[in-house]
Amino acid sequence: MTIAVRPSPIGPMKTPVLACTTDAGVVLVPVDDGTRTALENLFQLYVHDFSSIVPIDVDDTGRFEATIADEWFAREDHHAYLVREDDTLRGFALVRRGSRVTDDPKPMDVAELFVVRAARGRGLGAKVVQTLFDSFPGRWEVRVRDANAAALAFWSSVVSGEADGEVERAPHSDSGVPWTVFRFTTTA
Ligand SMILES: CC(C)(COP(=O)(O)OP(=O)(O)OC[C@H]1O[C@@H](n2cnc3c(N)ncnc32)[C@H](O)[C@@H]1OP(=O)(O)O)[C@@H](O)C(=O)NCCC(=O)NCCS
Repeated sequence: MTIAVRPSPIGPMKTPVLACTTDAGVVLVPVDDGTRTALENLFQLYVHDFSSIVPIDVDDTGRFEATIADEWFAREDHHAYLVREDDTLRGFALVRRGSRVTDDPKPMDVAELFVVRAARGRGLGAKVVQTLFDSFPGRWEVRVRDANAAALAFWSSVVSGEADGEVERAPHSDSGVPWTVFRFTTTA
């Protein structure tokens, strides 16, 4: 998690609001200048969740040293969304084009996905993922730390339900940390 916040204008939204086709109350709203702070605040909660499996401490201000890189707001192939359900903020999703484990520039990659604790376990994460897969049909990669048992169970469940055809599930090691990579294709 790297975060260097520079004052950079986000500019016009690169992508429209994504509407979930199975639940009209769920929308993915591209982050803009006015909502960047909301994303950064949610990111603190996300890192707090990860602090149970990754050694990371809060600093003396009580915050994690973790920010959202500027490329998420500057690049056309990076997409940062807030998740809203019935107009209440429930989480975020960061997706981008290009594999993070090979040089392949084509697949879409789920960089980060977060649903607030109070909204978990009732299908919201699955709706968010389904909306993303529908909006960016084609090849996808999802990387999950093996230590994140809940996320592994989540992705195993939703990928098998949403993929068109085979799902490849491959082990991956990054600096000795074991991950699982899911590779699959979705259709609109
Ligand atoms: C992972 C996360 C996004 C799941 O969101 P969610 O809204 O709770 O997930 P859903 O309710 O849509 O679950 C869909 C399926 O995933 C599985 N699943 C979800 N959470 C699970 C858990 N904690 N344990 C086991 N299986 C789980 C279930 O099979 C569920 O299907 P079901 O409805 O038939 O039970 C959410 O727990 C989260 O934000 N976690 C912290 C951040 C994180 O780890 N992100 C993923 C990084 S790779």
